Amino acid sequence: LHVAVLMGGWSAEREVSLSSGAGVADALESLGHRVTRIDMGHDVAERLAEAKPDVVFNALHGTPGEDGTVQGLMDLMGLAYTHSGLVTSVIAIDKELTKQQLVPQGIRMPEGRIVASETLYETDPLPRPYVLKPVNEGSSVGVAIVTEGGNYGSPIGRDTEGPWRHFDRLLAEPFIRGRELTTAVLGDEALAVTELKPKSGFYDYDAKYTDGLTQHVCPADIPGDIRAECLRMALEAHRILGCKGTSRSDFRWDDEKGIDGLYLLEVNTQPGMTPLSLVPEQGRHIGLSYAELVQRIVDEALA
Ligand code: DAL
Ligand code: MG
Repeated sequence: LHVAVLMGGWSAEREVSLSSGAGVADALESLGHRVTRIDMGHDVAERLAEAKPDVVFNALHGTPGEDGTVQGLMDLMGLAYTHSGLVTSVIAIDKELTKQQLVPQGIRMPEGRIVASETLYETDPLPRPYVLKPVNEGSSVGVAIVTEGGNYGSPIGRDTEGPWRHFDRLLAEPFIRGRELTTAVLGDEALAVTELKPKSGFYDYDAKYTDGLTQHVCPADIPGDIRAECLRMALEAHRILGCKGTSRSDFRWDDEKGIDGLYLLEVNTQPGMTPLSLVPEQGRHIGLSYAELVQRIVDEALA
């Protein structure tokens, strides 16, 4: 096959995407495919038209790339592409729209509220402790955890020229104490549950992409009912949103509250494929090499 690997772009997760894209392109070449690597710029339509690939592997993360824009372009160009389509991407990139779809269908998610970034600097939008996050970023970009004592990067009382002014809509949610869990879905199968144990206590950008800063426990050492509920919710969320190929659902679990303390936070339709990423790790757990995983994702796009 001739596969165009779309990567990079200009989202806040450009570097993560370049790492995912390099891994994917190397794997496709090792499988004998012809690969055109495209670092997405505003000329992406011309580049794709010139390449005329059989299929596009979308290795983009964040906005644009994970948000439906690129998916819409490829729909218009009549190109087959990996991962989710336009409507699913538009919904899943937005953590609030995702909630509106999933909560009525019995998926437990934290009850939050949207705050406009200009009101942030005055008062707390929720009682502390709470989490503040842009509705449409990934890799913990722009996430703050605001607690009684101190805070992790809160904008409250800070310079109004800080990074928060770049985000139009932010979501404030009660902070869920306890543990960080994640489950990948590939095709119609939820793969495993991984627990992330960041040394700093917060699974932020550095903890996600610096080797040694987070311990990954796969399979997680958790009770059977919690594991089953993570697998069920991840698969249900994937189906309700209409995800294709692969997705990864992230959870917080308050282990003092049993199953009622398990919350889905979000669904990632373009999960990372870097050396420290979780979908490849769960793939290995079920016996799929990285290259086999990449091939499966391509096969799903062509099915
Ligand atoms: N947003 C990053 C790439 C992830 O979810 O893995
Ligand atoms: Mg995410």
